[in-house]
Amino acid sequence: MKKSLEDHATRFDEKAGEYDESKSDEYRACANLVIEHAAPEVDDVVLDLGTGTGAIALALAPDADRVVGRDISEGMMEEAEQKADDEGLENLEFEYGTFREPEYDGPVDVVTSNFAMHHLSDDEKREAIDVIAGLEPRKFVLGDVMFFGEPDSDAPFYSPEVDDPATVGALADAFTDAGFSLTAVERVHDQVGVLVAERSPTAADADEVGDPDDPAADA
Ligand SMILES: C[S@@+](CC[C@H](N)C(=O)[O-])C[C@H]1O[C@@H](n2cnc3c(N)ncnc32)[C@H](O)[C@@H]1O
Repeated sequence: MKKSLEDHATRFDEKAGEYDESKSDEYRACANLVIEHAAPEVDDVVLDLGTGTGAIALALAPDADRVVGRDISEGMMEEAEQKADDEGLENLEFEYGTFREPEYDGPVDVVTSNFAMHHLSDDEKREAIDVIAGLEPRKFVLGDVMFFGEPDSDAPFYSPEVDDPATVGALADAFTDAGFSLTAVERVHDQVGVLVAERSPTAADADEVGDPDDPAADA
């Protein structure tokens, strides 16, 4: 991380009021793909990390049982709460939590994150992906600044002094090492994309489905 958590939180607190008005076409396309791929079921709990002013959380709330938003900027989350109130949405909660310490240990079906994980270094992203895998979601949909090829230093889609995007390859390795399978890769721009990672069923999951010693139990 090129800046501390506190520096990032202060930076986003300061821009929270205008944040929703300064969106690029690539950001919108990325957010729409995250929402489309997240596609929660009615009884799903969604955890949205780096939730900001709630673009993803609010869009998913009507389709999910509950949406848990986590961020380090109270200012950004105050905007999200205001929008949830304005829209009459009651199945959302916004509280402090980081990628590596989301401060949430309840059940999670779908994890989402849009345009936020690029603040972490590659090692920190790897740690975050491990923490997220430990929550045992069925799916993690990550939209973010990420490099599909060599980044164009003349036209960076990010601020090199504060952001630290990964290559798609590094992210794919981290997901795979954490037990996810990549099931979709969407390229929005050379430096923006969406990855859909689904959790490979573990032996424990198989036991939940049925007792392998008693195949008739599943019949
Ligand atoms: C560019 S905004 C994106 C917000 C929202 N996801 C969206 O799509 O509009 C990035 C957000 O990530 C948050 N953030 C940065 N580093 C974080 C971290 N380590 N853990 C959790 N949130 C973080 C910031 O406070 C900010 O609200």
